[in-house]
This record gives sequence, structure tokens and C-alpha cells, in this order.
Amino acid sequence: MEQTPRLQTTWLVRISSVFHDLEDRILATLGAVLVKRLGRDFLLIRLEEPGRLGSTGAAKYLRWILPVEHAWPCNPRETDGFIEKAAQAMFRKFSAAGPQTLMAGPLDPAEPGRYHKSLASNLRGRALQLFPPGMAALKDAEEQDPQQPTLFALLGKEGLFCGVHRPRESKGFHAGGTRFIRQNRPETISRAGAKIAEALHHLALHRPRPARGSHWLELGASPGGMTSELLDQGYQVTAVDKAPLDPRLDGREGLRFVRSDASDFHPPRGARYDAILSDMNGDPRESMARVAALSANLAPGGIVVFTLKLAGAEDFEGIERVTSEALAAARGLKALALVHLTYNRHEFTVFLEKASDS
Ligand SMILES: C[S@@+](CC[C@H](N)C(=O)[O-])C[C@H]1O[C@@H](n2cnc3c(N)ncnc32)[C@H](O)[C@@H]1O
Repeated sequence: MEQTPRLQTTWLVRISSVFHDLEDRILATLGAVLVKRLGRDFLLIRLEEPGRLGSTGAAKYLRWILPVEHAWPCNPRETDGFIEKAAQAMFRKFSAAGPQTLMAGPLDPAEPGRYHKSLASNLRGRALQLFPPGMAALKDAEEQDPQQPTLFALLGKEGLFCGVHRPRESKGFHAGGTRFIRQNRPETISRAGAKIAEALHHLALHRPRPARGSHWLELGASPGGMTSELLDQGYQVTAVDKAPLDPRLDGREGLRFVRSDASDFHPPRGARYDAILSDMNGDPRESMARVAALSANLAPGGIVVFTLKLAGAEDFEGIERVTSEALAAARGLKALALVHLTYNRHEFTVFLEKASDS
């Protein structure tokens, strides 16, 4: 959750449409002035104190953040030789910074026709030919070192916006923050599967994911979208819910289902979980208190992934109160991050960790 203060004054930030009603308040809390809206969910802003991006109640609404160190306002579709000119300019401007790689993406990921998505991919390909070969070596976005600078480029019909930032500080390995996860496969049990897949991707900004074979305790598992995703990723799961799991999960290897209220669930004697996942609806302060109690059975250094539902809170103060009270209920657990991920709705995802010497 730390943010390195920088002198850069123009930033690109992304605020999910879920929180558009709060946008003025978020910007005021940051001390930011809106310069321009870009693509889908992106705002170009001016800031007097960039340190506020990570240190105020507004920080949790910022899905993705980039200092804009190079901008080319233009319509790429109507600009002759856009890719070559943009790639050369990026090389001149950023090669001395020694970024670990270049990640490029569209300002509007849902754009019909996906013209700028493929333009971003072509721009990345051409620019990487100019930079040292090591920059192109990454096969997967998660191979980036979250603490080393990456050159990010976003483009759309408004032009090209670039900057160098550490993925952890930008809050994502991909330009714009989103890793696309298909939600409509025939075997998809619920959309929540995308939520845990994205959460595990995001976790890698802060620490390695639990190893294959690790044992998860999952609270609020029904109908089982997240359970299914965890099993697909090679984990063992003890799933708990008052409601049943989808029958497609019957007999899945590595799964134990306990039909129970989480407050009546008591782990078997000596049980040790490597991770806890909670997606229970209801008051997040109560859910968090239950997770904190069950963390007695969490291995030292184990993680918690917790969906913090906003319990009807809609305004800035109400949301602030619910989130801070839920975090206060996480006794004995250290918060690593609290974020609004792409596949979250009116909720945040919180990552917590149990001390490794406890
Ligand atoms: C949003 S749904 C979970 C979706 C699920 N994670 C998935 O991937 O399909 C919330 C679930 O929390 C369960 N729940 C809420 N409070 C609970 C409690 N106290 N104990 C057990 N389950 C609870 C509900 O029964 C419901 O199935």
C-alpha cells in the first residue's frame, strides 16, 4: 500500500464505473484537478502532492495509476506512420530509464472492433525491437519484478500516454491494470471464479501465490465459482457454506464441502490451512471477525483473500467507515492491500497475511 512520492504532476488514474458517483469527492480528497476523461474509466489529472495517491481514503478507489511522462495527443487511426513514430519517441524518451519491459494496452478495453487493442500490441512489438533484447524476454506479465520499473503505454482515440512505474505502485502488471479473464465458458459456475483468478494475479504484486497443492479454507463458497477456479489451479479446498455447491463440483478431487454456517464451522483438530478465502455476503465486519478467529488455523505466513462487501454503504464516509471497521476486525492479520479489482462489483478485495513467526 506504499506509494513513493514523485514530482510528476500529471497522472493517469482509473476509477471503476461502480464508483463514478464518488469521482468528484475522490479527486477532491486527492487534491487533484481533472484535465480530461480518456477511454473507459481513465482520468488524466494534475496533482500537487502525488504522495496522496497512496495515503488517503481515496486511494482504494484508484484501480490503476501511472505518472504521464510522455503524451502524444492525436488520433492514431488518422496519423501516418503512428506506430513507427510512437515507438521511436518512446525509445528516445525512456531507454535511459532502463525499464524491465514494455506493457501496452487500450484506454478502452471494451471498444467494439478492438482497433486500439491490436494497435497497442503492434506498438509493443515494434518498440521492443528498438529497446535492448532482454526487455522482450518476458513470456507472462507476472514474470515482471513488481518492484522494478516497467514502461507502460495506454492508447486510444485520444492519443498515447506513457510513463515508467513499478507494477506494484501502478497496482497491476498490465497497462491499465486488467488481466482479461473469460467468464462465459460453458463450465463457468459463477462469475466469482474470475474474481479469485484476478485476485491471485494481483497477489503476485505483493508476494508469491500459494504453491500448488496448498490447502484453502473457503467461506461463502456456494455455488462454487471460486471453488472451481481454486481446484483448477491445483489447490485443495475445504469449502463452507449454508447453501449447497453446484452439482458439477460433486466428486472433484481435492474438495471437501461442509454445509454449515461459518460461525458454526470448527476446523478438525490440528487442521492447518495455507490460505483462507472469504466471499460471504452480509456484514463484512462480522465476516472479517469470523475469518480472524479461524486464522488460528492458518499457517504462519499464510494469506487471506477477503471480499469486502460494502453492506449498503454508498457514500464516501459510509464506505470509509465500513472498510476501516472491517480492517479493524482483522485482528492478528496484516493488511497487504485493499483494492477494487476489475471483476469486483460494489465491494473491494482485501489481502491479509499472518505473521510468519506466529
Ligand atoms: C456471493 S455468494 C458466494 C459466491 C461464491 N464465492 C462463488 O464463487 O460462487 C455469498 C455466499 O455466502 C454465503 N454466506 C453468507 N453468510 C454466510 C455464513 N455466515 N456462513 C456460511 N455461508 C454464508 C451465502 O450462502 C452465499 O452462498
